[in-house]
Amino acid sequence: MTNVAIIGTQWGDEGKGKVVDLLSEGADLVVRFQGGNNAGHTLVVGDQSYALHTVPSGILRPGKVSVIASGVVVDPEDLIVEIRALVKRGVTISPANLKISEKAHMIMPYHRLLDVARENAAGSQRLGTTGRGIGPAYEDKAARVGLRLLDLRSPDVFIQKVERALQEKNCLFENLYKVPSLKAETVAARVLALRDDLLPYLTDVTSYLRAAGEQGLNILFEGAQGVQLDVDHGTYPYVTSSNPTTGSVAVGTGLAPKRLENVLGLVKAYTSRVGEGPFPTELKDEVGDQIRERGREYGTTTGRPRRCGWLDAVVVRAAVKLCGIDHLAITKLDVLSGLGELKIASHYELDGEKLLWPPASLLDLARVKLVYRSSPGFDEDIKTARKLTDLPKGARAYLDLVEELVGCPPALVSVGPERDETIILNRYF
Ligand code: GDP
Ligand code: IMO
Ligand code: MG
Repeated sequence: MTNVAIIGTQWGDEGKGKVVDLLSEGADLVVRFQGGNNAGHTLVVGDQSYALHTVPSGILRPGKVSVIASGVVVDPEDLIVEIRALVKRGVTISPANLKISEKAHMIMPYHRLLDVARENAAGSQRLGTTGRGIGPAYEDKAARVGLRLLDLRSPDVFIQKVERALQEKNCLFENLYKVPSLKAETVAARVLALRDDLLPYLTDVTSYLRAAGEQGLNILFEGAQGVQLDVDHGTYPYVTSSNPTTGSVAVGTGLAPKRLENVLGLVKAYTSRVGEGPFPTELKDEVGDQIRERGREYGTTTGRPRRCGWLDAVVVRAAVKLCGIDHLAITKLDVLSGLGELKIASHYELDGEKLLWPPASLLDLARVKLVYRSSPGFDEDIKTARKLTDLPKGARAYLDLVEELVGCPPALVSVGPERDETIILNRYF
């Protein structure tokens, strides 16, 4: 029995969905613990591609249980749409294999409206959010005016809570953002209409997971977003409103931190970012465009083109330390084939000082000088490689350089989107 947390080390979209789907073969449970439907995790199985947002990436494996823990913010309407679309495609989803924490907070229609209104009003100061209402939902949770899924059980109290939550928001909608205000009864009726669909899934997830651990089941914790989008440790304010770092596994599930056994850090072989905010190794040239096209770097959730650039070892090194990462899963190595000489930022320099992790101040981050190491690169198609020795010399040299600069060995190297397009060095289950 063991458990593994899958953590994105960069700005998200590292390939967490693929790796969770792959490793879930040996897991009994797959657990989402933070974030919401801002996540977009793409799984490719044969000729089928699935984009998951709130549903955990273990759902495609019969016999496995998927869990949405209390640290996740759940958009009830969007979740039902996601579940129905998956069921229509033949995926089995029922309360037997999907458990949702009764304590999870809901993303309400006014959260989405507020997210979008704020972004529209912010002009050049916008964050580039996914517009899914994630920030406003976490704000209400912290402000203690949020609605939890368990509130669906008591419709009368539900309406009162919506009224309370809308007091301030309607004031903002009407006076600041100049958008029509919302009626509590209409909003409540819209969400309460989903009661019968949602209530059967509600579970005391903390007790359920504790019992699963005691029974010796294998658990995979599926992170969303990445360390640089962490509200405490990322490129604030250009971050999401939750903590994609490892500590969230404990906070978001209610399991004690010492129960977590392994942490696998997901590293895309280059870097991408969606939305605004600093990106030191960004390539605004032909090479960046080539990476975007070859890596199909377009957002799973919003379809936006992702900004692309070289791998930044400073960012990944910080993630390894912050998250207690034991091993790396290096993904999308195949995308770098044919690009010529490859570069990795090894460290930054600021006012003559060597920086091994990113500075907290964005003003400082804007002034850093990047110091790169080069690797000769490779031209071969590596999608059929299943062992390190199948890789050409240039690809192995690149992996060695990543390990040297980041100070952490790989457990897995992904060479294509499909399950079997993977070199597995360390199996957890
Ligand atoms: P996540 O948010 O971390 O789950 O990542 P996304 O699913 O948003 O983005 C990763 C994309 O890359 C998806 O379309 C995957 O199917 C794809 N992908 C994952 N691993 C590989 C790989 O090794 N090579 C290639 N070419 N694509 C991959
Ligand atoms: P996965 O799980 C990449 C980004 C948004 C925006 C910022 C804040 O697929 O890796 P939010 O809607 O969360 O308030 O937006 O965070 N962002 C992501 N970028 N992958 C994600 O998830 C993301 N989730 C949020 O683009 O810059
Ligand atoms: Mg994604």
